[in-house]
Amino acid sequence: MSRRVVLLTGATGYIASHTWLALQAAGLSVVGVDDFSNSSPEVLTRLQTLSGVAPVFERANVCDKAAMQRVFAQHQPHAVVHFAAFKAVGESVSLPLNYYINNLGGLLNVCEAMREQGCRKLVFSSSATVYGVPEQLPISEDAPLSAINPYGQTKLMGETVLRDLQVSDASWNIATLRYFNPVGAHESGLIGEDPRGTPNNLMPYVAQVAVGRRPHLQVFGDDYDTADGTGVRDYIHVCDLADGHVAALQYLFDSGRSVTVNLGTGQGHSVLEVIAAYAHASRRDIPYVVAPRRPGDVAACYADPTLASVVLGWRARFGLERMCTDSWRWQQMNPHGFESSANR
Ligand SMILES: NC(=O)c1ccc[n+]([C@@H]2O[C@H](COP(=O)([O-])OP(=O)(O)OC[C@H]3O[C@@H](n4cnc5c(N)ncnc54)[C@H](O)[C@@H]3O)[C@@H](O)[C@H]2O)c1
Repeated sequence: MSRRVVLLTGATGYIASHTWLALQAAGLSVVGVDDFSNSSPEVLTRLQTLSGVAPVFERANVCDKAAMQRVFAQHQPHAVVHFAAFKAVGESVSLPLNYYINNLGGLLNVCEAMREQGCRKLVFSSSATVYGVPEQLPISEDAPLSAINPYGQTKLMGETVLRDLQVSDASWNIATLRYFNPVGAHESGLIGEDPRGTPNNLMPYVAQVAVGRRPHLQVFGDDYDTADGTGVRDYIHVCDLADGHVAALQYLFDSGRSVTVNLGTGQGHSVLEVIAAYAHASRRDIPYVVAPRRPGDVAACYADPTLASVVLGWRARFGLERMCTDSWRWQQMNPHGFESSANR
């Protein structure tokens, strides 16, 4: 794959920044695009430190059609990985238009710029959220799809747009990757997840409790039909996820086909298991209180990852212990995230 140019949208975000390093390690040239609506320019400094290469980067909003046309004309990418999106489920319920405009408008613009420029290989960040309330576990790719909030709708509608595009023109090769629950950080501790405000996801919240930024964690529901009563999710190390993107691009370049796959470990862990593993990794107490269930939360959700291993030759390597150790290293080295070091 060497010397091919891959354009990453949402490039300074959590998953994309780890994927950037994995793509470079695979010999690809990366061009990043982000508007910093949910990330920091400091990420670019960290990527340069880690890779020894000055990042090629364009600050642009993917919803800005003229800007995207300029970026595509200038860099002529062979493929695109489209990460840019808003991702907070709760916020999507209160601000649905922002989500539809950004997540769908951005995807449409990127596809149109690709079409105009003759680029037909796209990796799309989808989510396990497209399975709604799963009827069967583990969840395989042919499970029924539904959305239970506007964020989920944007992913489901995004998948529909891309399916229609493939039907209309077989020269499009699209990998739709349904991520389960990305956690952890690069082993250097230099990049990781840096949520703005109150974290929406469990592990960054636990990390902030461990480091002393928050007094305790709320466990939403301990009366689910699971082994210990708390919710079960399929946590996947972000570096495994990053490698999944390399495998997906390789597949698009080699096979000239399209694919939709789950990226998960296939292993579910409960909230209490995550708390215990994090307490062990950090050697800190993680105080928690049990709160009522949150509307829309499901008891358990974990992937059947077989298809990704058969079609892409990819499988997750890291377990929960490593996810917690790497997350903790990142949290300790950056107790206030990227911004504090950028402003220092
Ligand atoms: N983290 C998860 O739990 C998870 C799970 C499933 C799917 N996903 C999807 O993966 C992708 C990446 O998620 P993440 O966790 O890295 O999120 P993130 O917020 O860290 O990264 C997204 C990046 O996109 C940028 N962005 C947003 N809108 C933009 C726009 N209009 N123009 C340019 N840049 C824009 C943000 O500034 C941010 O840097 C998203 O599409 C998300 O929906 C994430």
